[in-house]
This record gives sequence, structure tokens and C-alpha cells, in this order.
Amino acid sequence: MTRAFNFMSIAALAMLAVSAERDAIGAEPATGAAQVQRGRYLVQITGCNDCHTAGYAQSGGKLPEKDWLTGDSIGWNGPWGTTYAINLRLFIKDMTAAQWLAVARTTTGRPPMPSPALQAMTDADLLSIYHFIRTLGPAGQPAPDYVPPGGQPVTPVVRFPN
Ligand code: HEC
Repeated sequence: MTRAFNFMSIAALAMLAVSAERDAIGAEPATGAAQVQRGRYLVQITGCNDCHTAGYAQSGGKLPEKDWLTGDSIGWNGPWGTTYAINLRLFIKDMTAAQWLAVARTTTGRPPMPSPALQAMTDADLLSIYHFIRTLGPAGQPAPDYVPPGGQPVTPVVRFPN
């Protein structure tokens, strides 16, 4: 009995320590470990990191999670102008779950953002992704601004045929 109680006290203290650490970096506590894990899994299998995390694809997916989804300064240049995969950690920082769903449902993100993939996801999957990114917390700098067709990007770009 005493033993079980001690164990529970230790577990409670550990949880307090974890939440204090999260508060310190400005992240939110997980709304449910399973939901966050599902979000992590979806982000991995749908390739969000390939564009939204600098160096992720080149590293063979070996970058630590703390660097995930902080955006990239490599431009994607084509007839649509030059786009940059935004910093999703900052993008989502002040968004409610409802706002995130509305953005994902109506997004017309230009190429090569796979907007139709986001639009086709279920609410449950989109919310899992939301909670996973919120658990990571805000980090990094905003990606460069979109450059309209004819403009001169000042960063390296991947060129699509015009
Ligand atoms: C092939 C590269 C690529 C992949 C993969 C990718 N994105 Fe993007 N994403 C972009 C680019 C580039 C932009 C900026 C588009 C623009 O400026 O119009 C963007 C923009 C966005 C936006 C902002 C859209 C808006 O309406 O403002 C969201 C949200 C987003 N991406 C989420 C995701 C998520 C979640 C995933 C994984 C399911 C993902 N992206 C996968 C390249 C990508």
C-alpha cells in the first residue's frame, strides 16, 4: 500500500516537472498522448517535413523533432512565382483548433504545397496534426515572403519549368 502510494507520488512529481518544463518553452501539454502520437505519425508519413523542415530530406529524416516544421528558406520557383514552405510552428502558435481546421479546409497554398492532401484529411487527422505541432511549441524564424511571378528571389530556389 505504502509502496503504491510512493510510486504514485513520484509519478505525480514527474508529471509536474514535465509540465513545468513545457511551460518554460511555451508549448502546450498534450491533449492526449495517443492523439499527439497519431499527429507525429501523420506528419512523418505525409512528408510535411520534406518541405517544411530545412535539411530534413537531405538528412534522410534524421533531424531531431525540435527542428521539425520550422520552415525553409529554399524557394520553389515556377509560373506561380516563388513560394517558401512556411514555419508551421509559428503559423499555428496563436491558432485555435477550429481556426486550424478552417485553414486546412480552405487552403489554396500554391505549388508545391500539396493543398489537396490537406483538404482530403479527416477532421480527426487534422486535429492530431494540430496537437502534435502545438506540443512541439513555437520555434525558429518565419520563412521568407512569397515572391510574385517576375520578382527576383534573393534565396536559392528550386526551378520548375515555366
Ligand atoms: C512539396 C513541398 C511541401 C510539402 C510536402 C508540404 N508543404 Fe505545406 N507548404 C509548402 C509551400 C511551398 C507552402 C507555401 C505556399 C504558398 O506560399 O502559397 C506551404 C504552405 C503550407 C500552409 C499554409 C497554407 C495557407 O493557406 O496559408 C500550411 C498550413 C501547410 N503548408 C501545411 C502542410 C502540412 C500539414 C503538410 C504535410 C501534410 C505540408 N504542408 C506538406 C510546401 C509543402
